[in-house]
Amino acid sequence: MDEEFQINPFTPTFGSIPMLLAGRKQMVNAVLNGLRNGPGDPNRATIFIGARGSGKTVLLTKIAEEAAKIGWISANVTASETMLDEIIDEISLNGAEFLEAEPTIHLTGINIAGFGADVEAAPKRERTWRTQTALLIKALNEKNIGLLLTVDEVDAELPGIKTVVTAFQHFVRERRDVALLMAGLPHNVSELLSDKRISFLRRAFQHGLDPIEQADVRESINDTITLSGKKIEAKALGKAAMNTGGFPFLIQLIGYHSWEQAGLAKTITSAHVSKGIDAAFDDMGKMIFRTTIKGLSDTDIRFLKAMSVDDSESAMADIKDRMNVSEGYASQYRLRLIEQGLIAPVSRGKVEFAIPMTREYIKTL
Ligand SMILES: Nc1ncnc2c1ncn2[C@@H]1O[C@H](COP(=O)(O)OP(=O)(O)O)[C@@H](O)[C@H]1O
Ligand SMILES: [Mg+2]
Repeated sequence: MDEEFQINPFTPTFGSIPMLLAGRKQMVNAVLNGLRNGPGDPNRATIFIGARGSGKTVLLTKIAEEAAKIGWISANVTASETMLDEIIDEISLNGAEFLEAEPTIHLTGINIAGFGADVEAAPKRERTWRTQTALLIKALNEKNIGLLLTVDEVDAELPGIKTVVTAFQHFVRERRDVALLMAGLPHNVSELLSDKRISFLRRAFQHGLDPIEQADVRESINDTITLSGKKIEAKALGKAAMNTGGFPFLIQLIGYHSWEQAGLAKTITSAHVSKGIDAAFDDMGKMIFRTTIKGLSDTDIRFLKAMSVDDSESAMADIKDRMNVSEGYASQYRLRLIEQGLIAPVSRGKVEFAIPMTREYIKTL
């Protein structure tokens, strides 16, 4: 029946777990095995690094979901001024069923009935965040429940992150069942790692969210469509997958718009996908490129424009000539743009755009 409306199964919204996760199996499994293995497994401190739209938030959510199936509760926060309180709240909320019967872990101070006035008169010793959290972890661990802390969008400017990392280091020394997953943009992570006070973090496993393999992209697009009541022609599928460049947000955008283009038709054709790609390009501009480019200097943009002349990777020697600057000057900007997650080194002296469709977008500026 062609007339039946079918709900679009693609989710081009930041943070939404897609119906089918393409790739990323190894990263998910590495962390889960780390949780199973016990204190001391290096996967228990992991940092995911990637540009906006590369799937960091989804990965943290997915791992927290899977961890729940093997007896771990998680406290999930986005780095902010209030993150320390939020972590305590999250543990209390998500671990409620295991913590309920523990009077010692009520955190607002020690309450001794009958001594009210006297106790209050005495100066109250505030528990540190580390102690509060240690008590909660201890209570959970006694019930064989581990605690997974996930911190999204890390930002070295926020002091809470350092508190968490330092405390975590102690939890590891105390052999508690605890794990710390963090995610952030390349420059934010490298700023955090350069902080000497938390040099411990440099030993964390770092995973760059590289493009997803074409075969995985094809399979996830095809299965998302067929499980939801439409089909896609083989040629159309190849074109859709290729144009995602393995970039997670584009898998959802191209999938979503191709599905919309098909309307009530049962089969998504190459023509639908072509129009879907155009619509996806517009959304990439609004949701990825505009935001990223806001944080760049004029010279950064000149560098990107110098690259956009090439059809694929660019040689640094050409870039510096096109910009009419010295090699040293150009290489400073190369580093800045790598840190922004916009370009990636390919081989000696060569760079390319890290996010698909960047070249086309830069040409419109
Ligand atoms: N492995 C994946 N396979 C398919 N789609 C994904 C995958 N990871 C993320 N997405 C989709 O990509 C978009 C961006 O994901 P998100 O986790 O918010 O990225 P980030 O946090 O890095 O900005 C979302 O629409 C999400 O549904
Ligand atoms: Mg995110």
